[in-house]
Amino acid sequence: MTQHLTVVDHPLVQHKLTLMREQDTSTRSFRQLLREISLLLAYEVTRDLPVTTRTIETPMCEMDAPVIEGKKLALVSILRAGNGLLDGVLELIPAARIGFVGLYRDEETLQPVEYYNKLPKRMEERTAIVVDPMLATGNSSVAAIDLVKKSGAKNIIFLCLLAAPEGVARMKEAHPDVPIVTASLDEKLNEKGYIVPGLGDAGDRMFGTK
Ligand code: URA
Repeated sequence: MTQHLTVVDHPLVQHKLTLMREQDTSTRSFRQLLREISLLLAYEVTRDLPVTTRTIETPMCEMDAPVIEGKKLALVSILRAGNGLLDGVLELIPAARIGFVGLYRDEETLQPVEYYNKLPKRMEERTAIVVDPMLATGNSSVAAIDLVKKSGAKNIIFLCLLAAPEGVARMKEAHPDVPIVTASLDEKLNEKGYIVPGLGDAGDRMFGTK
């Protein structure tokens, strides 16, 4: 993936995203749409994975057929909202290894603090797809990718549903080697760090906690 930011402008993705943004969309519909959209985003985020060939027998003949090269992918979810995106991606890549990173925001320093970190083994041999629906200030994404890099991963992609320009800039500064795939680059952040126009609190909307 050569571009730092890829916006998936496919009509199905954009249509589903509009439904998710609407404030009257129910938790149930929001979850269903998120699952569908994450399948489509997973398709895009894996577009440039290297392939090799394996010799197989079809009922007709032998052939050298394409397969994804290298160790199984690692999907890394940033808790808790990352899990909503993870489910759909996992449906498309069921053999992937899965990691979780938990971060909370220190109310005094406003910096992310790690409370959970469990990543698959041999990360240096895997492509890691880090998932979090909202790239807002970029603080937690940058911190999560710091941890993923510390585990040895060199090939990392960040997948989100919405991105704010501020978060994209922060990621580009901290991790210029990590491409971002998103369904939309929104307008801005508000004073509370929410994406505008956005869709509100992604975790609350997918888990029905508000
Ligand atoms: N996290 C969210 O859930 N929503 C935003 O708009 C920003 C961060």
